[in-house]
Amino acid sequence: MRTLVIGNGAREHALAYSLSQDPQVTEVHVAPGNPGMAAVATLHPETRGEDAAAVVDLARALAPDLVVVGPEIPLVAGVADALREAGFAVFGPSGAAARIEGSKAFAKGVMASAGVRTARAETVGTGAGDADIEAALDRFGPTWVVKDDGLAGGKGVVVTTDRDEARAHIRAVHAAGNPVLLESFLDGPEISLFCLVDGPTVVPLLPAQDHKRVGDGDEGPNTGGMGAYTPLPWLPADGVQRIVDEVCTPVARQMVEEGCPFSGLLYAGLAWGHDGPAVVEFNCRFGDPETQAVLELLETPLGGVLSAVAEGRLAELPPLTWRDGYAVTVVLAAGGYPEAPVTGVPVDGAAAGDEARGVRAAGVAADPAGGPGLVSAGGRVLNVVGTGATLEDARDAAYRELATVSLPGGHYRSDIGLAAVEGRIQVPE
Ligand code: GLY
Repeated sequence: MRTLVIGNGAREHALAYSLSQDPQVTEVHVAPGNPGMAAVATLHPETRGEDAAAVVDLARALAPDLVVVGPEIPLVAGVADALREAGFAVFGPSGAAARIEGSKAFAKGVMASAGVRTARAETVGTGAGDADIEAALDRFGPTWVVKDDGLAGGKGVVVTTDRDEARAHIRAVHAAGNPVLLESFLDGPEISLFCLVDGPTVVPLLPAQDHKRVGDGDEGPNTGGMGAYTPLPWLPADGVQRIVDEVCTPVARQMVEEGCPFSGLLYAGLAWGHDGPAVVEFNCRFGDPETQAVLELLETPLGGVLSAVAEGRLAELPPLTWRDGYAVTVVLAAGGYPEAPVTGVPVDGAAAGDEARGVRAAGVAADPAGGPGLVSAGGRVLNVVGTGATLEDARDAAYRELATVSLPGGHYRSDIGLAAVEGRIQVPE
């Protein structure tokens, strides 16, 4: 099977690596990719994922049996539709179905029709004046959830008990030309559940937890995600099934009903409160960094799994099999991330070909001086994934390997998965 992955992050590195391990997969191409993936995939740096015509041209040249579109921006822009129209089997939803991430109003409408628990929400448009903003803030709190209602890759959310900070974020989002979504705060531990979805058919992957704040102890601003672990030792035994039954299947059926069936990966971001799971957000793609941990435990070859969805055969796929134990992934970020990442800094101790050590590269570029190494080129520079029989072992493995990588000025969280190891996460009764 010849495969083409669209994207350039650590998520796409993890997808490309898992595909390369599938005995049925003969070729892995990534466009544009990043140089950290070069040992497991042929890179096509000249093709931008958002450029549907260029992606279709590349697919025509490569004739892949499967195209996997990783990030949300090309999906929302309809790149999967363009590929399907050109006759390719695609893992990734249509532009209409990708609105579950791209349009908060659409997602809220689907959830309301499907009877799925989620936060109360109100849009504060760019035309809102000072008095409108104050009135909207009065209707929420004491914890304000202020979301950029454009595509922000998980980074446009401020959760705060400080009204001044909430107001400042509303103004900043408006200044950038986007409306704001104010939401009620959902209490309880957060869960990311990724489901393969093919119309009404829903197959969950292992549940994971992301760590979105930049600093240890959940301090500092939100990021795209600083690390994740899977599975979740604190989740009730029927937790995944409840999320599938109460959230993902009703939403998948509702989307079929509304004429925009979902095909691809539906990412439910949830909080587990007193009433059970409630939706914080949906994404239309694999999450980053959770994917790097989840795929590490998937035993079923990935190419066959994604092809089953792309070809409308998910209902016939035998149950997925998983390795025992746990996986933890930790993000190494550039100095200055998330506000102003410092780029061009040499990465020591990690290079293309380090997948078996757990390295998944994201914001990296080839050494401009022509050396064999990598330099930082973005905020989240790379991830390291560790596995182990226990969550503690998996944490130790990830941090041991990360200690061998050096990025001057870089930083990472030291507490990924720690609260779960120490039994500090409880689901409300
Ligand atoms: N893990 C956050 C995201 O993928 O949006």
